[in-house]
Amino acid sequence: MATNKRRIAVVGTGHRGTGTWAGDAPATCADEVELVGLSDVNVARLAVAQRRLGPGLVASTDLSEMVAEAKPHTLVVCTRDDTHADIIVKALEDGMDVVTEKPMAVTAEQVRRILDAEARTGRRVDVAFNYRFAPTSRKIRELLASGRIGRITSCDFHWYLDTTHGADYFRRWHAYKRFSGSLFVHKATHHFDLLNWWIDADPVRVFGQGSLEKYGRNGPFRSRRCKGCPHADECEFYLDMSTSDWLEDLYEGPSAEDGYFRDACVYREDIDIYDTMTAAILYDNGVQVSYSLNAYMPIEGSHLAFNGTHGRIECRMYEKQAFDAPKGVDEILVLGTDRSVERIRVEHGPGGHFGGDPLLHKALFTPEVDDPAGQRAGARAGAMSVLTGVAATQSAETGRAVMIADLLKG
Ligand SMILES: NC(=O)c1ccc[n+]([C@@H]2O[C@H](COP(=O)([O-])OP(=O)(O)OC[C@H]3O[C@@H](n4cnc5c(N)ncnc54)[C@H](O)[C@@H]3O)[C@@H](O)[C@H]2O)c1
Repeated sequence: MATNKRRIAVVGTGHRGTGTWAGDAPATCADEVELVGLSDVNVARLAVAQRRLGPGLVASTDLSEMVAEAKPHTLVVCTRDDTHADIIVKALEDGMDVVTEKPMAVTAEQVRRILDAEARTGRRVDVAFNYRFAPTSRKIRELLASGRIGRITSCDFHWYLDTTHGADYFRRWHAYKRFSGSLFVHKATHHFDLLNWWIDADPVRVFGQGSLEKYGRNGPFRSRRCKGCPHADECEFYLDMSTSDWLEDLYEGPSAEDGYFRDACVYREDIDIYDTMTAAILYDNGVQVSYSLNAYMPIEGSHLAFNGTHGRIECRMYEKQAFDAPKGVDEILVLGTDRSVERIRVEHGPGGHFGGDPLLHKALFTPEVDDPAGQRAGARAGAMSVLTGVAATQSAETGRAVMIADLLKG
């Protein structure tokens, strides 16, 4: 029976596609969304997703074939980062709206093509910036917009990934710039988008530095992958996939198709991304940002401070710490130059990314949902955050500052 629900299809049935988008989104928005199709180039992973999500779903390794049969309104793009642009442009040209996982693209040329296709076709691209929907992120945006600390002049933003989460980027395709754009693009796109949204301005100039200090060629030994590795007992990054049905099902079987191992060695010598990164960013309203990202820390979370003409906002987000730290809640300190102090506690919400994932799904698929904080992010926001990361990577490679306008012009 025909319904008025938004028909969505998912391309890329890996962890994020099968879990968050094909699985969770239709469950969170059951009255608004209907999952109608799946596609992935790996026939075995596609079959796993179809078995888990509903054997009746249209599924094909040929995206055009799936689209022709399932007729989605919206295509949700969850493939490897470097493949997003071609898929997005084709979907827009075929008359679909697009929700894309971050980063929207990995190069400036891809960004320009997507912006052009969106303008040309009149269709809409949404970028899945779930961190905007975390309650603490929204509170910080509201505090900054309220003028509590006067005019924002500078910001310190430092993000730390621990040796479990951080290492995961070195096990897979993310470890190569050609696939992920480097962590300045793949991971920092979240952070650069938050900065752009919080500061409510555009980045203009970026100076970046990066190095590989822990993973890749720094390893004391190496192998092809964890399974069967002779160094398993001595390696701090050994991953036993057999302890997870999800990993075994979604990756181990399907790896026979294309050699994509979920547990590839983090010490592979050809890894070319950085694990230690800093960037200095100047915004068009004069705000100066000092940013860093480190992927092998004993802690996971971030340190954030905004400095203004009348005060300072501080927030330390404790995601996973080696010590006893607050759980399920963040504390924001609002400090005035008049010595006033306010402590604001913000509870995390239910669901992934501190409650951001389900709120993002609601915002995208429930038409009447209000968006007073401007949390829904379009292609332009996706572009500005990717370009910040591309600029930081280029700068790290050349030793020169990079202008965002030059990347936009091409
Ligand atoms: N928002 C978030 O917090 C968040 C978290 C994790 C991942 N992601 C993003 O989600 C996307 C998927 O990440 P993942 O961890 O699920 O990766 P994954 O490697 O588990 O899955 C990617 C899938 O895409 C398929 N694929 C690759 N190229 C394809 C193509 N051209 N056409 C069709 N299928 C193709 C692969 O076979 C694989 O099944 C990435 O863009 C990633 O950056 C976002």
